[in-house]
Amino acid sequence: MIREAGVDDESWISSLIDQARSLAEVWPGRWNQRMVTEAIQEHRCLVAEAGAVAGFLIYRPPGEAWEVDLVAVSPAQRGRGIFRELLAGLIQVAMRHAAKGGQVYPVWLEVHEANTAATAAYLRCGFREVGRRPGYYADGGAAILMTRDCL
Ligand SMILES: CC(C)(COP(=O)(O)OP(=O)(O)OC[C@H]1O[C@@H](n2cnc3c(N)ncnc32)[C@H](O)[C@@H]1OP(=O)(O)O)[C@@H](O)C(=O)NCCC(=O)NCCS
Repeated sequence: MIREAGVDDESWISSLIDQARSLAEVWPGRWNQRMVTEAIQEHRCLVAEAGAVAGFLIYRPPGEAWEVDLVAVSPAQRGRGIFRELLAGLIQVAMRHAAKGGQVYPVWLEVHEANTAATAAYLRCGFREVGRRPGYYADGGAAILMTRDCL
């Protein structure tokens, strides 16, 4: 089940971010508790539940595209379609927005070039690479820019 995040979700989302960092996964280092709090307050955070909370997706409304700011699934729940569900949740948000007279914008995201697991998952979910930003991350790694249409 996908739902909008509430204040009660802040602590486990932050724990999941810390856990991802401590596992030395390639992760945008600039993320902190305040940014999670803001995303929840601004209704820009979706949560997946599969018995217990399983993952979250923080996004930005358009602009020119719906942008995925940050996404993570609990390590024990990966490979079970949770990211695919979160993405479907974001696409539902986008289509509701379009139904109210907005345009149908694509979805954009950036991923560290060394994050091969996330890149593989995004490709499987219909994203395609549209560019690279060399040296974008603090460790000097490039960002791969990816997009997919909502329809
Ligand atoms: C990237 C991430 C969000 C994927 O979540 P997930 O719930 O495991 O992904 P799903 O199970 O929905 O998989 C979606 C598709 O990608 C594929 N996939 C998932 N992980 C994969 C991997 N490591 N290698 C290859 N393919 C993979 C799945 O097989 C599935 O394809 P299919 O439905 O055609 O079989 C998860 O691995 C994660 O949280 N990683 C750590 C955090 C991170 O790196 N976030 C991105 C940086 S912002």
